[in-house]
Amino acid sequence: MKILKKSLLTIIPFTLAAVFASTPVFAGDSTAGKAVYDGKGACAACHGATGAGDGVAAAALTPKPASFVTASFRFDTNGDGQPGSDSDIADVIKYGAAKYGGNVSMPGRADLSDEEVSNLVAYIHAMKQ
Ligand code: HEC
Repeated sequence: MKILKKSLLTIIPFTLAAVFASTPVFAGDSTAGKAVYDGKGACAACHGATGAGDGVAAAALTPKPASFVTASFRFDTNGDGQPGSDSDIADVIKYGAAKYGGNVSMPGRADLSDEEVSNLVAYIHAMKQ
């Protein structure tokens, strides 16, 4: 019993640390993100209504727009070895893919507010199936 108590006391702080470490930096609202994705952002034209990378403009593009359904992200803008983190996605939206060695067909959207970008990030994560 004493051993169990001791090991619980050791495990709990680590568990809490892991939970906090994985908390996203941006706490976006995916419903608001959808409105930007479908509307002002015009993301759906290329990335598709469900995020599968199959928007009306996608056929004409090489490389193809990223699919958010498979969540196979390639850009690692903060160089932490994990593409597709919130800040990586936000950077590509704000500054465009070309800045990070990608294609100019993914335009930077400096006109979107930080709030709109973090809402888009939340919606992009929500499209994963
Ligand atoms: C004109 C077409 C087009 C539009 C509009 C567009 N994208 Fe893209 N997007 C692309 C293409 C093409 C790529 C892939 C670029 C590459 O791999 O070099 C891409 C890549 C991305 C990525 C990178 C994913 C990864 O692999 O890490 C994100 C995130 C993204 N787009 C989000 C958005 C959002 C959000 C919007 C709307 C604000 C948007 N895009 C609008 C074409 C577009």
